[in-house]
Amino acid sequence: MLSAIILSIIFIIALIFLLSLIFPSFLIAPWVPCKKKDLERINRLAALRPGQVFCELGCGDGRVSRYIAKNNPESQIIGIELSVPIFLWAKLIGLFSGLNNMKIKYGNALKYDISNINVVYTFALIQTINGKLKKKFRKELKKGAKVLSYAFNIKEWKGKTSVDKPDSKALPIFIYEL
Ligand SMILES: C[S@@+](CC[C@H](N)C(=O)[O-])C[C@H]1O[C@@H](n2cnc3c(N)ncnc32)[C@H](O)[C@@H]1O
Repeated sequence: MLSAIILSIIFIIALIFLLSLIFPSFLIAPWVPCKKKDLERINRLAALRPGQVFCELGCGDGRVSRYIAKNNPESQIIGIELSVPIFLWAKLIGLFSGLNNMKIKYGNALKYDISNINVVYTFALIQTINGKLKKKFRKELKKGAKVLSYAFNIKEWKGKTSVDKPDSKALPIFIYEL
């Protein structure tokens, strides 16, 4: 009887973990991390100034947030992740990294208030970046804020737009300013 209860609990926990891995895939994107060699490029394009706030929507294992936090000790870095196991992993590595200017938060990035963010970074599906995220950026971000979109572009952006693609093999990073 006791072993059946324990097995049921393990099954339910495993199911919750599995569903929380699958569900976010339909929102921003499934967990596919950016290339490690692109971290320096993302940091350069973010061009954070002391006191500015950087937010990663769907931070995965937190590699981008950690890199940015490490290289911009006078800026505040926030990473948001919805998948429970990936969030716990990012949080754990974050705790061991000793970066006190970075917060990894659990939640739905599509509902997170970004009105005080200076630079937003995301690696989102093309339909999400052109749908819910584009609307959110236009509605919430202040003038002067910047959006970095890894791999996919936002169509018909009203504002300054540029693209960074150092060579034919590199994935593009699109930069949008309000
Ligand atoms: C393509 S991965 C990008 C990971 C990381 N930003 C990078 O560039 O390496 C997208 C991440 O967003 C997470 N995600 C998807 N929908 C989300 C949502 N609504 N809120 C927060 N995180 C979400 C996924 O679990 C996944 O870890």
